Amino acid sequence: LILYYDNAFPGLFAAVGLSILGFWLTSIAISRTKDVFAARGFQGRDLLKSNATTIPESLGLPTAAVYMALLFLFIPFRYFSSQLQGVSKTGDDWEGRMDGRMGFPHHELASFLSALLSFSCAIVLGFLDDVFDIRWRYKLPIPIISSIPLLMVYYAGGGGTSVVVPGWPRGLRTVLGSIVELGPLYYVYMSLLSTFCTNSINILAGINGVEVGQALVIALSLVLNDVLYLDPRAGQPGSRSSTELLRRHLLSLYLLLPLVGVCMGLLRWNRYPSRVFVGDTFCYFAGMVFSTVGILGHFSKTVLLFFAPQLFNFLLSCPQLFGLVPNPRHRVPRYDAASDSLYPSIQYFGSGTDADGELPNTSKSPLRPASLVATWVLKVLAGLRLVQLDFYDAERRRIKSTTNLTLLNAILVLRGVRHRPQTNQAQTPYTGPRIGERHLWMHAMACQLAGSALAFGIRYWIAAVVFP
Ligand code: UD1
Ligand code: MG
Repeated sequence: LILYYDNAFPGLFAAVGLSILGFWLTSIAISRTKDVFAARGFQGRDLLKSNATTIPESLGLPTAAVYMALLFLFIPFRYFSSQLQGVSKTGDDWEGRMDGRMGFPHHELASFLSALLSFSCAIVLGFLDDVFDIRWRYKLPIPIISSIPLLMVYYAGGGGTSVVVPGWPRGLRTVLGSIVELGPLYYVYMSLLSTFCTNSINILAGINGVEVGQALVIALSLVLNDVLYLDPRAGQPGSRSSTELLRRHLLSLYLLLPLVGVCMGLLRWNRYPSRVFVGDTFCYFAGMVFSTVGILGHFSKTVLLFFAPQLFNFLLSCPQLFGLVPNPRHRVPRYDAASDSLYPSIQYFGSGTDADGELPNTSKSPLRPASLVATWVLKVLAGLRLVQLDFYDAERRRIKSTTNLTLLNAILVLRGVRHRPQTNQAQTPYTGPRIGERHLWMHAMACQLAGSALAFGIRYWIAAVVFP
């Protein structure tokens, strides 16, 4: 291996070393800065605890700062050793230097620098969101625009824009051909991937450790996927295509290994019971690393596979994100102090009569009754046991309430945990299953791991069957 790719492997060793350093530096950076963050007003109440103490927030910022510093430090390790001095066949000094420059991995360095640029944009955007709570209509286009340098580098690297048509179901290839050229649409897909990755981690949030946990599982899965490509026997050894493939996956490792290190450092502080919150800074930054790695490594479709739980959470959230169902500031499960466990949080609909005033939490009356489409969508979701519905009428036509449409609430509903009214009106004591915050975190991580297993299955097994 090392004989083939002697220039790239010092980089890999450096990335492993910097990743260990990253774990240690992140822990130190957080312990030194968390009180300063709190003193400057960066703090939030832990919604799922009985005591109302506040916790320092946005500690994703020092984490991201350590990560960026590691990547800056990495540059000389990887590129200083690259051959600069060439010897011209004619003995001409200038030509010799030009030959030498040809051997330098310019394109890879451009890829690396464009990655740093997009990470910086994500960190700034995330921190501004922590400070100003930016509106969705401004937040969504920013990652799309900041992905342009990456797309340019992808273009310069001869990036493909075609997709292979599956051989199954039969007949699909007769209609579409075996390869479909998407052209500019593929670039649109990649820029949308940036905005999806950044926001989807942010909306699968709210219980201790879940933002970092999901990022860590995705990062480790992508690392494993890269390692599977390090074996030169995978392609034709020495051929241009196998060297190129190896280069791309090495670049991905250079960016992901330090991320694993800093995420582990952050998780030490953010896991249940959290001593710091990560803030939107971390969610945007981690999401941007994944989409960038996918674009620069030319495996953006594979990255999406590892986001299966996030994709599910996003699709499930759509009725709330697009206004079909009311969307509150926080959709996280609710906390029951008596049993120290969580239960699904709910949203009420109006009854269309004056009786709505009796509902709890109806500060913004009059409440809208559920529309026909909303009723239909929610009933389908209830059939799938992803939401728990309550009705005004015995015929179950007019919906009174639904549990919030998130993966975390859906896990609780699937496990049979029922919503409990907050008032003391509940006459019959709750006897159903109980799930605490740490326990729900484990469920969420199990979903993420299952998503990764599924992704590997699709990528390496099903793909071989349907893309013969
Ligand atoms: C997203 C979610 C929102 C969820 C919130 C929780 C959508 C559209 N938005 O909003 O529903 O409630 O994340 O992060 O799905 N917090 C905890 N425990 C934690 C983490 C956070 O209680 O482990 C609370 C803290 O009060 C913290 C706040 O959540 O201050 C952070 O929320 P923020 O990241 O600003 O919410 P959004 O990203 O806007
Ligand atoms: Mg957030």
